[in-house]
Parts: sequence; C-alpha cells; structure tokens
Amino acid sequence: MANKVDTVYRKALEEAKALDIEGGDVRWLIMEAESYHSPADVIYYRDKEMRHEDLFWAYWEKRKSGLPVQYVTGKAPFLGFDLFVDQRVLIPRQETEEMLATLSERIYDYYDPRNYLVAADIGTGSGCIALGLKNFFPNWLVTASDISKGALEVAKTNFAKYDVSVNVLEGDALEPYIAQNIALDIIVSNPPYVKSRAEADDIVRNNEPASALYIGDGLSVYQKIFRDYKKVKKGSLLMVFEIDPWLVDNLKRWMEENLQDYEADFVNDLREMPRFLFVYLH
Ligand SMILES: C[S@@+](CC[C@H](N)C(=O)[O-])C[C@H]1O[C@@H](n2cnc3c(N)ncnc32)[C@H](O)[C@@H]1O
Repeated sequence: MANKVDTVYRKALEEAKALDIEGGDVRWLIMEAESYHSPADVIYYRDKEMRHEDLFWAYWEKRKSGLPVQYVTGKAPFLGFDLFVDQRVLIPRQETEEMLATLSERIYDYYDPRNYLVAADIGTGSGCIALGLKNFFPNWLVTASDISKGALEVAKTNFAKYDVSVNVLEGDALEPYIAQNIALDIIVSNPPYVKSRAEADDIVRNNEPASALYIGDGLSVYQKIFRDYKKVKKGSLLMVFEIDPWLVDNLKRWMEENLQDYEADFVNDLREMPRFLFVYLH
C-alpha cells in the first residue's frame, strides 16, 4: 500500500531540518510531484495516499544535492505564469513581480498605456519581464534581449508556451536596438547587480548563472544604457530598473554624468529598501 502524504512529508521534513533546508521546499516538491495547486494542499491532503512518491523522492534527492526547487522541477511561478527555467537563466524573483506591479501603478504618471508603446526588456533571462509587460499591456510592442544565447533560448520557450508575440534580440545592453534602429518609449531591466560572489547565498552562487548575478568590474548594464540612451530615444523615454540598495549612490552619479533633462525616483520594495529606479527623460 502506498504511503500517506503526511508520512512522506514528515520523513523528508526531518531530513530537511538536519540539512538546513527550508520545510517549504519539501511542501513545494510534494505539490509538484502530486500536481497539487498549492503547497498548503500537502497539509490539506495529508491523510491521502501519495500517487507519485517515487517522483517526489527523485526530486528530493536533487534538492538535497544542492539544486534549487525551481531547477529541480524546471518550473518557476511568475505573475501567475508557470515559466520554464533551467541553469541558463536566473530564477525569477518576487521583487521583479513587484517591479512590474509598481510600473503598472505608475505608468499613468508618464504615458497613456493604451497607446502602442515600444518597450525593451534588457537582460530578459527567462523572459519573465517581457511576458509580464505583454500581460499588463497587450498592445505594446515588446522586444526582449540578452547577451546570453542560452538565456534567449529559454525566453523563447516561454514566449511560445504562452503564445505571446515578443521580438528577441541578442546583444550587449542597447547595442542590438541601435543596430536595428529601434526607437523606444520604455526600457525595463533587471540587470546583474550583486556586488561579488561573497554577497550571494551558497544556493544562488552554486547554481544560478554568474553572468546573471554579478555586476562585474567593467561598465555595468546600467552605465551602458545611460551612455547610449540618446541613440534609442524618439520622444520621451521611461527607464525602469531593478536595483540593489548598495548601488543607489553609484546610480545617482552615473545618471548625473550621462543623462540630460531627467527626473529620477528611487522606489522602495515591500521591505522598505530602495529596489526600483524610475527615470523619465523628457
Ligand atoms: C538578473 S538577470 C535578470 C533575468 C530576468 N530579466 C529576471 O528578471 O529574472 C540579468 C540578465 O541580464 C543578462 N545580461 C548580463 N549582462 C548583459 C549585457 N551586458 N547585456 C544584455 N544582457 C545582459 C544576463 O544574461 C541575465 O539573463
């Protein structure tokens, strides 16, 4: 007879505690193996029999070996989408969902979003921002770009999965847009912003692509965009960035050095940390 959900849950939870893995990861993987809708269903269905116990233990072995749950199952939730992810892309974060929610609240301060605006998602990774933009603003013309070929393959899989029309370009910051003479109304970007390897948690450092995480020693993506924005600006231009609080003073300096006739607004996240930068260029 198959084991009950509760029996499997408790056994894995004990191992999780010993290995300092969050209990939420156990619930997440049981949910995925059993095709439940939410991790809370693990508690709700605790007296039911496991239907896919082998699959759960296979997932659990991978998690115990140090892989994040999203790479274990190849799935990450983002704004109600179920995105395909693998180690070629950053796992989409809650802060990035928050950036898009903040943009959708603030957009009326800058534009009438019912217009056919031209938007770029620079450093698209899994494609989550471009998908979010098309979801909130279906009539926008959205291009997603990345310097990583592998990331763009993942993004394309997600655009196809949700049947959204997004242009895809490969290249460094604004270069592919300049090469194709694309004039933009809006740039949205969550570029690499972690200061150094030492700043990242083990599970992040050991699994997620370094090119998606670390800001590096050369010019950052923020600086490259500030340096080149005039080449893609047709009328006004709104730039929305996800940032890290350690970057605020640098960003202020980089803007002063490069931008003209602009208004900048640093916006806090739900933890009251400066996390988003809205820059409006007249
Ligand atoms: C922090 S990840 C963000 C991924 C995704 N947009 C998200 O929010 O989850 C940064 C992305 O920028 C890409 N990237 C890094 N340097 C870049 C550059 N110079 N030009 C374009 N993309 C770059 C990386 O390959 C990575 O996919």
